[in-house]
Amino acid sequence: MCGIVGYLGNGNAYDVLIKGLHRLEYRGYDSAGIALVAPGGKLNVFKAKGKVENLETICNDKDTDASVGIAHTRWATHGEPSDCNAHPHYSEDGNLALVHNGTIENYKLLKDALEEHGCKFHSETDTEVLVQLIEYIKINNKCSLLEAVREALHQVVGAYAIAVVEKNDPDTIIAARQSSPLVIGIGDDETFLASDASPFVEYTKDAVYLNDGEIAVIRRNEPLKVLNLENRESKIDVKTLEMSISQLEKGGYPSFMLKEIFEQPTTLRECIRGRVVENGQRVIISGVRDHKEKFLNAKRIVIVACGTSWHAALIGKYLIQEMCHIAVEVEYASEFRYSNPVLGKDDIVIALSQSGETADTIAAVKIARSMGAFVFGISNAVGSSIPRETDSGAYIHVGPEIGVASTKAFTGQVMVLTMIAMAIADLRGTLTADEIAGLGKVILKMPELVEHVLKLNDKIERLSLIYTYARNFLYLGRGYNYPVALEGALKLKEISYIHAEGYPAAEMKHGPIALIDAEMPSVIVAPRDHLYEKIVSNVQQVKARGGSIIAIVTEGDSVIRNIADHVLEVPEVPECLSPIITSIPLQLLSYYIAINKGKDVDMPRNLAKSVTVE
Ligand code: F6R
Repeated sequence: MCGIVGYLGNGNAYDVLIKGLHRLEYRGYDSAGIALVAPGGKLNVFKAKGKVENLETICNDKDTDASVGIAHTRWATHGEPSDCNAHPHYSEDGNLALVHNGTIENYKLLKDALEEHGCKFHSETDTEVLVQLIEYIKINNKCSLLEAVREALHQVVGAYAIAVVEKNDPDTIIAARQSSPLVIGIGDDETFLASDASPFVEYTKDAVYLNDGEIAVIRRNEPLKVLNLENRESKIDVKTLEMSISQLEKGGYPSFMLKEIFEQPTTLRECIRGRVVENGQRVIISGVRDHKEKFLNAKRIVIVACGTSWHAALIGKYLIQEMCHIAVEVEYASEFRYSNPVLGKDDIVIALSQSGETADTIAAVKIARSMGAFVFGISNAVGSSIPRETDSGAYIHVGPEIGVASTKAFTGQVMVLTMIAMAIADLRGTLTADEIAGLGKVILKMPELVEHVLKLNDKIERLSLIYTYARNFLYLGRGYNYPVALEGALKLKEISYIHAEGYPAAEMKHGPIALIDAEMPSVIVAPRDHLYEKIVSNVQQVKARGGSIIAIVTEGDSVIRNIADHVLEVPEVPECLSPIITSIPLQLLSYYIAINKGKDVDMPRNLAKSVTVE
C-alpha cells in the first residue's frame, strides 16, 4: 500500500511525478504529496489530504520548477489521513525529504531515542522517524546521505521502499527496499523510481527491480549504482517491460473496473495462449513441467492467498482435488503464518496473489520455503516479489489490474489454476487424454463464452436499479460456485458498502436463514451441475420465507426460472469451468449497484490494491 515515485533528469519533475502518482493511486488515495529539489538549494514540499487531484489543486499557484523530486500517495497505517501525516516527511532542519511505502515496526523505540536527543516530531507517522534518524546520523557522523541512509536502515525493523532527496543536492536520489516493491526506470539522461513500473512506462522500457536489502544510488549523469546494506555493489539486471500505456488507461470506459470486466475475453485469451495447445489436446504449464518430480510425488498442496485471491484458491481446491486426487488445503495467508504450519518436502505450497506483493502472502512463502516445501507462485505482476521468491510459478497474464476491486485477475487466476490442475492430472495420469482434450476444447472457447455472458450487461444494469437500496444481501452457491458466492458478496461489499454475506447454500439452514425476509435479497449461483437438484431446494427455502431471489442459471433453465424473481442465464460449460462464467454477472451487478449509489468504484473507501502491510 502507498505508492512512491521519483524522478531525476532534464524534464519537468512535477509533471512526471503527478502523472506517476495518478498511476499509483490504486495503492492508496487518502493523501498525497511531493518534494521538489528546486534550483538554488530549495526543497519545496507540498501535501494534501485526499486524492492526487487535491494535491494538484494546491500546487496550482506554487513554484514547482525542478528536475528532481519524489512523491507519494498514501494508505494510512500510522496516523489518520491528514495534510500533516501525508508524505513526504522532512527532517527537522528541512534538509531532507523522504517518501516511504511500508511500516517501521520499531519506530516507537527510535522515536523515543531521538526525542531524548532533542528531536521534535510533527506527525504521527512511523516514516517521520526514519527521515529524522537519517538526518541525525548524517549530522552526527558527518557522513554523506548514502552513508546515513545505510546506517539508518541497519537500525530499522520493518518493511520499506523509500526515496530520499536532499535540499542542497539536486543531482541525487537515494532509494532502498526491504519487503516493499521498488523498481528503477532507466531512460536517456533520466532515471525514474516507483512502486511499480506504471509511472515511467511511456519514458522507458528498461527497468531494474531492486531486491530486499538493496540501496539504489541515482545520480545525474552517472550510471545507476545498486549496493547492499554492507556496501557491496550488486550486478544490475535490466529487464524489458512488457507493459503498454493503453493498459494503463480507461480506453473510453467510465472506470477501470468496467474496462477490466469487459476486457475478460481478451485477458482470458492471453492467459490461455501457448498453454492450451494442439486444438485443446495438450496443456503446458512450464512451471509444472520443469518440476515434474515435485508434482508427481506431492502428498498435499496448500494454497495461501488473501481476499479475492483466496476465493480463487478455494476454486483451485475443488479443481485439484477433482482432477489430481491430491489433498488440498486453502489458507488465509495472514492466518497461515501464525498457525504453526506443519510442512515438509512432499508438500507443495501455492502462493496466489495478483499483485505478487501482498505482505501476508510473501510471509507465508518465506515460512513455507524455510520448512522445505516446494513453493509455486501464481501472480499477475511481472517482476513482483512472489515470482522472485518462489521455486517455480506461472503468471496469469491479464495485464495491469488498476480497479481496486479485482475482476479480470480473479478469472485469470481461476483459469491458470484450471490449467495447472490439468497439467498435474496429465502427469499423474488422473485424467485421461480424452478428458484433457474435452476440457481443453472448451477452454479455448471460454473467451467467446465470456463475451456472450457480457451481453447481460444492459439487463443487469436495469436489474441493479431494483436492488440499489437493499441494506443486506445473501450470496449462495454450492460446490465450485460456493467460492463464486463469496466473491460476489465481497465485490458488492467493497464497492457499494452494502453488507453482503456469501455462504455455501446448504449451510444457510444452519443460521443465516433467520435473516431472510422481504428486505433481504439473495443472489443464488445455480448453474446446472451435479448439485443442481440440491440448490433448487435451497432456492425454494428462501422463497418460502418471502426472500427475493436473483439466480444465475444455465441457459434454458426452467425450474429455477419459475421460483426466482429474476434469472440471469449463462452458457452451459463443464462444472469445473463454471466459476469463470458465473462470476461475471456478479461483477456487473455489484458494479451497477455501486454506480447507482454514486460510489467511486475504482477507489473504494479505506481500500488499496496492493496490501503491503500485515
Ligand atoms: C478484492 C481484492 C482483494 C485482493 C487481496 C489480495 O477485490 O482485490 O481482496 O484480492 O488484497 O491481493 P493479491 O491478490 O494482490 O495478493
